[in-house]
Formats: sequence, structure tokens, C-alpha cells
Amino acid sequence: LPREARDRGSRSRRDASPVNPRFRIGSEGVGRIVFDDPVRSHNVLTEEVMERLDAVLAQAEDAVAQGALRVLLVESGKPGSFIAGADVDAIAGVTDAREGTDAARAGQAVFSRLAGLPVPTVAAVRGVCLGGGVELALACDWRVAADDDTRMGLPEVQLGILPAWGGTTRLPRLVGLRAALGLVLSGKPVGTRKCRRIGLVDQVFPAEQFEDRSLTFAMGLADGDGSKKKRRRPRSPLDRFLDGVPLGRAVVLRIARRQVLRRTGGRYPAPLKVLEVLRKGGGRSLAAGLEMEARAAGELLVSPACGNLLFLFRLRERARKGPWADGGVAKPTRRLAVIGAGVMGGGIAQLAAFRDIPARMKDIRYEAVAGGLAHARALFDGAVRRRKLRRREAERKMALVSGGLDWAGLRQAGVVVEAVVERIDVKRAVLAETEAAMDPEGVLATNTSSLSVNQMAMALSRPGRFAGMHFFNPVHKMPLVEVVRGEATHPDTVETIAALAARLGKVPVVVGDGPGFLVNRVLGVCLNEAGHMLGEGMEARAVERAWTGFGMPMGPYRLIDEVGIDVAAHAGAALGEAFGERMRPAPALVALAEAGRLGRKGGRGFYLYRKGRQRGFDAGVYGDMGLGAPRERASASEVVERLVLAMVNEAGRALEEGIVASAGEVDLAMVMGTGFPPFLGGPLKYADDRGTRDVLAGLEALRERFGVRFRPCGAVAKLGASGQGFHQAFPAVG
Ligand code: NAI
Repeated sequence: LPREARDRGSRSRRDASPVNPRFRIGSEGVGRIVFDDPVRSHNVLTEEVMERLDAVLAQAEDAVAQGALRVLLVESGKPGSFIAGADVDAIAGVTDAREGTDAARAGQAVFSRLAGLPVPTVAAVRGVCLGGGVELALACDWRVAADDDTRMGLPEVQLGILPAWGGTTRLPRLVGLRAALGLVLSGKPVGTRKCRRIGLVDQVFPAEQFEDRSLTFAMGLADGDGSKKKRRRPRSPLDRFLDGVPLGRAVVLRIARRQVLRRTGGRYPAPLKVLEVLRKGGGRSLAAGLEMEARAAGELLVSPACGNLLFLFRLRERARKGPWADGGVAKPTRRLAVIGAGVMGGGIAQLAAFRDIPARMKDIRYEAVAGGLAHARALFDGAVRRRKLRRREAERKMALVSGGLDWAGLRQAGVVVEAVVERIDVKRAVLAETEAAMDPEGVLATNTSSLSVNQMAMALSRPGRFAGMHFFNPVHKMPLVEVVRGEATHPDTVETIAALAARLGKVPVVVGDGPGFLVNRVLGVCLNEAGHMLGEGMEARAVERAWTGFGMPMGPYRLIDEVGIDVAAHAGAALGEAFGERMRPAPALVALAEAGRLGRKGGRGFYLYRKGRQRGFDAGVYGDMGLGAPRERASASEVVERLVLAMVNEAGRALEEGIVASAGEVDLAMVMGTGFPPFLGGPLKYADDRGTRDVLAGLEALRERFGVRFRPCGAVAKLGASGQGFHQAFPAVG
């Protein structure tokens, strides 16, 4: 990598390189390369580690020449982790396509050296093996894996790049084109069973005996004919046609391309680049394939999509690691209690059990407890069906969920999450009662989505140990948790809840107490604006298309259906009351709620639903909103401009009010909480990339047409005047 990028990426780790990886040759000519980063919890292939690997491989070559090395085993000294990948900070430091291509070539050269060793080589993979780790394993002749929590994957496309240390080219040669596409295009890691099935690993050993068995396996190779050549796995004629014959490959690649375009709308260049490299590289030499990979990596690295995906990745890593509150100390949560076993309570209890934290639900109705347990059971069953969990594991985890009408288990819980009905009087009573019954050292949290944490805190005698823990629906899918810091909330409480959220696999973002917190407030203005559009006579489906065309996962009306029209109207009314004129609910949406349509859950909203499936748009909805047939086709650019600038403006307000500390957290929360297009980096990254001057001008123009709801907030007015970006003006603290 260019020196500058390297310095930015990993200067602090520099002294780690002389010892990592280690290399030694044991008895009987078995050499071992062991990765064990002395500083990090995972092994990362930094520039220094790659240099050291190269030097170690040179030693191995010498040893082979002297007849001292007969087989080479590549291992990790960390039990739960093989290699987590390349150094993302260094990747993000690349600013020029040629630099990127050179960096890819340099990595390839090291792995080609490994592949070229004249003795058999074995990667012994246990635990996390991602990106560069998989590519290293692919450069070995054999791969063996442990049967416990080993997961292998190539997540590069999720960062806007492609596996360019040989992965894109070597993987299809090993497992066939279709299996390789499955891994590379999804970026999702897979478990040992799947690795074995597709031929990515040759042998699976029980975790308890992994080291011994790997060593025995390697020694067996040394004692055999020492050949690096393996017999190819037998393939069916169809596999041979689709993976090996040009016509078959062309069909596979064409179908994959169509699927990618359908999924991404062509806005993410990386998966398309992968397909291009495989199409052009098919039937050509390994060297030619590698060179195409390297060039593609250079091009992708400087694409805006890649920059934004890397930007979000780093924000997310930071948000998951903490610290989250100045001076706070997290207490690990060993048991959880949930008050209210409804949609959210059941989901939260299931998630805790899924992550091996015992969870007890308390409700006031037997049916609700039974429903919560059934919900958890259904989610575990789904995980088994999708092969995410083995049946035995699912049963063990399910046994961690329990429920009842009494306070059993409450005193043992480190954190109690309240998820009862959204009514302040009920919540205050329930919280006070819970506080009295729980461990005085424990932390109490509310999952409210719209009520004031400060107001609830007034009902408590230990408000310092109370905060919001706002999960999104469905709990098991939505990656964000807003941790709501009330005025009295102690930093230890924030740390404990955020650490729990991270332990549950979520991304915590700390926000202040204010109507709608951050995400629902910013999303709220956007949905309300979509409501105004209907009132102007715009055609709903054209608005939907414009918004998904911008990259959102669904249109605003479908989203309202999903949330529930009653819930959305309730939240909209609360925001309108809190913020006044600019957030006054759009009359069309108010009328719709009054007409009694509920959205998906009631079978009728903007769309019709039968047995949970959407059955098309319901033109009758215009009548229920008190509107005639739509008169306007709605220009896509106007729709996007209004919806996105409404969000940017409101996010700016939340920032200046201190609801959230940094522009990065706004972007992360909006991407994780609403699906704002990741390739754009978030609403404020979008604003910065567009230029705050232009954003200000855009808002002024909209204000002239639509009035106060587009009045630029103080932050936009100030930044727009100077041209400074949100991320400069509101950088991450710490
Ligand atoms: P829900 O209606 O499905 O469940 C509420 C449960 O609380 C019911 O089972 C009810 O029997 C129980 N309950 C009522 N009073 C109780 C008491 N005194 N003690 C124990 N249990 C009691 O509601 P849902 O959707 O699960 O919402 C719960 C909370 O989560 C609300 O504050 C809501 O705003 C919030 N939330 C909801 C989201 C959603 O999309 N449904 C998203 C994020 C937050």
C-alpha cells in the first residue's frame, strides 16, 4: 500500500509485525505458520503482517531446498478466530486507482508465493475466517476446518470492493462457478457444513481434537507421495456443463447479473465487476485472472459507492465497540427480564436467548405470555429451517426463554426492559412497580418509541439507572438500537445498555430524549411530506417508484402500511404537537387513519393484503383520504428532492439540538434504522457530497413553494453559507 495509506491505517501496530506470524519447523519436517496478533483480538492482514508472511515464506522456500520442510500448516493462535481479513483502515486510505491495483498485486504476490511452495500446504481454519483469510486459505493446497463456530466468507462486495488477493479467481476454480458466486456476491459467511458441501474445505475435525487432527492430517500428506495435486471432486454432468463449458458459464453469469441488477438497481458496482472479471477470466490463465482482479479492485476502490460503504463500515465498527458514554462503565448483562410479552417483548426475549442470555418475560395476560413464547419458538424454528442453527442448539436456546405473570427471575436480571403498551400512565405505573421489585443494582430500560424518557424517570426513585432502549420492529432483523439518555441517566447505565445492545448483535446509537428520538423524527418528516404529496394530487405509486428509484428499500406508503397506519398516525400526531406547524400531520394521512385502515396487519392500507401477502395497490385509498383520483404524475426528481431534503433538514436540527452527537451517528442510524441507501453513506453524507451550499439553495427553493416546513434549520443555514460539511462541523467525539 502507498506509504501514506499505510501510515494512516496501522502505524500504531507497527511493532507487532516482527513476531506475527511466527514460523517454525518441528520434528519430521512439519512447518507451521501461526498467526497471533499480539495487540488485536482478531488476526488482521495488515501491510506489516503481509510483509512478515512474505519473509517467512522465503524461509520456508529455503527450508524446502535444504530438505528440512516437507509439509506446511497455516494456523491461528487464537481459538475463536483464524483471520478476520485485511486492514480496512488501510483499504479506506487508498485514494488512487493505481495505488489500489498495486496493493492488490502485492497481496496476490505473497499468496502466489504460498501457492507455489513445492511442498503440500494446509490451512487449518477455526473460528472467523473472512476476506483475506479465505484468500490465504485458497492459496493453500488443502483446507481443514473445525466443526464448531467456524465461519468462512468473502464480505468484500459489502464494502464495495471484490476479493482481489486471488479470491475471485481461485474460488470458482475450487468450488465451481455457481457456489463461488453464492459466496462472493452475497458476501455472507457460511458455516463448516456448507464449506464442506461445496468443497471449500476438504476435512472437518471435531473442535476438541482440531489441533491434533490437523497435525496428523498434515503429517499424512508429508508421508504420502508429497504430491500437491489432488483428485478433483466428482461432479455431475450438469455441474460440469454449468461450471466448465463456456455456454453453461455464460448462462450462469447472465442469470446472476440479472439477479444482481434486480437486487441493487445497478447502484453497486462491485458485484457487477465480480461478474465481469469472471466472464472475461473464464478459460484464461490464473495469472490473467489475478491481473483482472487487481485492476478491478483499483477501479472499485475509488468509486463513490465503495467510499461510502467503507465509511459506514467504520462508523458501525466504532458504534459497536464503544465507549458510548464519557466515564461510564458497563456491567455485563447475564440475565434479562422483559415486562410485556407482546410483539416487541417477545422479540427481545428471543433475541437475548439467541445470544445465550437467559430471558424472562412478564405480562398481565396468560395469552400474551403464551404468544411471546410461541413467537420465540417460531423464530428459532425459522432459524433451523434456514440452517442458521442446528435443532439441538435451537432447543437449548429456546429453553433460555421463560415467562409468567409473576415477578420470578426479576431480581436476578441485570437489565429489565419494559415493553408494555405505549401509554405514559401505564408505563409510569409499570416502571415504578418494576423498579421496586428488581435488583436495586440493576438497570431499567424502556422500549418506548415515542414517549419521553424524562417524564417516565419522574416516576422512579433511581432515575440514574433508567434509560431508553429503543429496538425496531422486527427485533431479530432490524440492526439498530437507539439508547436514549435521559437527563438523569448515569453514564454507567448508558454503557450497560449499549454494551448489551452490541452483545445482542445490534448497533447502538446514543441519542438524547426528544420527540421521536432521532430515527422516527427524521423518518417522520419524510413520511409526512409523502402525505402532503398525496394531498396535492400526486399518484401514490409514482411517488413509491421515485423513492425506491433513489435506492430506498420501499416506498413511503408501503412503509406506512408496514408500521401500521394507526401507529404512524399516533406518532405523527405526537411529532406535530411537539414541533408545531412544520410537522403538522398531512391531512390526507389523518383522514386515512380515521377511515380505519390499519395497513398490513389489518389487511388493508395503501395496499391490500391476504394471508400476510401483498395483493396490489388499492385505488380505493384515495377516496378514504378524501381525495379524488390523482391528477399529477409526480416528477421523480421533485419527489426525491422533497423527501431527502426534508430528512437532511430535520437531521440537521437534531444535531444542533444535541439529540445526537455527530453527523456520523446520524448517518449510521438512518442507514441501519430506515434503510437509507448505504451506497450514499447516509443523509448527511449525501448532503456533504452534494455540497451544503446546494442543499441550502434546494431548501430555499422548496420553502418558496411549500412554506415553513422547508425552512432551513440553523445548521443548514450556517453550513450552506460557508460550504462546510456536516461531518466537518459535527465530527465524532473521542
Ligand atoms: P403489544 O401490544 O404487542 O404488547 C404489549 C404487551 O404489554 C401486551 O402483551 C400487554 O398484555 C402487555 N402489558 C400491558 N400492561 C402490562 C403490565 N402492566 N404489565 C405487564 N405487561 C403488560 O405492543 P408492542 O408492539 O410490543 O409495543 C410495546 C412497546 O414497544 C411500546 O412501548 C411500543 O411503542 C414499543 N415499540 C413498538 C414497536 C412496534 O413496531 N410494534 C417498535 C418499537 C417500539
